[in-house]
Amino acid sequence: MRKCVVIGVTGGIAAFKACQLVSNLKKKNYEIHVIMTKNATEFVAPLTFESLSGNRVSVDTFDRSFEYNVQHISLAKKADAFVIAPATANVIAKIVHGIADDMLSTTFLAASCKKIICPAMNTGMLNNPVTVENIEKCKQLAYMIVDAESGMLACGDEGKGKLADVSIIEDAIEYSLYPKPLQGKKVLVTAGPTQEAIDPVRYITNHSSGKMGYAIAKAARNLGADVLLITGETNLTPCPMIQTIEIKTAKEMFDGVTKYSKDQDCIIKAAAVADYTVIDPATNKIKKKDNTLTIELTKTDDILAYLGQNKKAGQILCGFAMETENLIENAKEKCIKKNCDLLVANNLSVDGAGFKTNTNVVTIIRPNEIKELELMSKEKLAYQILKECFRGEIDVIND
Ligand code: CTP
Repeated sequence: MRKCVVIGVTGGIAAFKACQLVSNLKKKNYEIHVIMTKNATEFVAPLTFESLSGNRVSVDTFDRSFEYNVQHISLAKKADAFVIAPATANVIAKIVHGIADDMLSTTFLAASCKKIICPAMNTGMLNNPVTVENIEKCKQLAYMIVDAESGMLACGDEGKGKLADVSIIEDAIEYSLYPKPLQGKKVLVTAGPTQEAIDPVRYITNHSSGKMGYAIAKAARNLGADVLLITGETNLTPCPMIQTIEIKTAKEMFDGVTKYSKDQDCIIKAAAVADYTVIDPATNKIKKKDNTLTIELTKTDDILAYLGQNKKAGQILCGFAMETENLIENAKEKCIKKNCDLLVANNLSVDGAGFKTNTNVVTIIRPNEIKELELMSKEKLAYQILKECFRGEIDVIND
């Protein structure tokens, strides 16, 4: 079902960034309603938000021209998430003290949905013990705080107080809208390729983009899990609220994973780990001499197999298998051999499957069960994989 997000805009220069936020959320098919304080209308005209959201903007509680009977109660009931961006020191002070003297503060007080506060103000105001205490109170009230960033402020000061990047606010909204069936669970995800040095300038790697692993880590986070992501080098930006460890080699991946594996409820090994590493990488750059060059390789430790052998009771182990032929037979063999509960197998030769794509076509293999999934985005698949890992524990997924 289409989710409803109410955006409260208060009177700070960062109000213009809320336009981008509304525009982006609208494109993601959320129903958006904007409430502005009177001061905010000095910075951005309500018409801008009305055009971007497609809905009438509310400013004054006593505006007689609204269709809604009691506008603030109606919006408060409708909202799945309530975001104040930018949130001035003044509005933060009001909301933690239950003051309801305009449309925004009144609706906020009446709403019982997820609430997200995005402070933006001058550094002095932000650091004032009164504001610090008020932000702390917001946290105690279970309001999510999207921290202000540091940089050059509109007043010319350098310091903390800039409204967080719109993408971070969007991410917080996305997070807030998911149910949290994995609350209290620890999930370790590996992602991306490994790199095995040949000399100081060259290495052996593979085409893994990390997209699948990052999508699983984010989905697990959205569903409330405590997520640890161990990743090889990718072009992807680490997600907020996910502990991320960056590694390069298969050995570093092995060390990282085995250090944390014992505490995990579920381990999902989406990384493309090198099977072989260079026995003796050159200290200096290898010069071009002979027509052929032989590099001696040795097998790396199989992390998944190690985890399978050392699985703690109740731990869920999910492997991946990348095949170009005999998908089912090879993947099933790997699943049993490595003692996995399930294995996500994909066939590189199928359209829409594989490393660099935004989609994937996979088969979920269990020792006694095979389930083919249709072509879908890696984001959507991430939730399906988690649903398979935590069978019976995840019912509702609004993906
Ligand atoms: N894997 C691992 N450690 C390795 C190699 C692979 O943990 N040194 C894991 C991968 O993360 C993946 C699974 O094993 O979850 C299967 O990887 P894949 O490359 O498909 O299979 P391999 O076991 O390496 O066998 P082969 O390359 O012969 O197909």
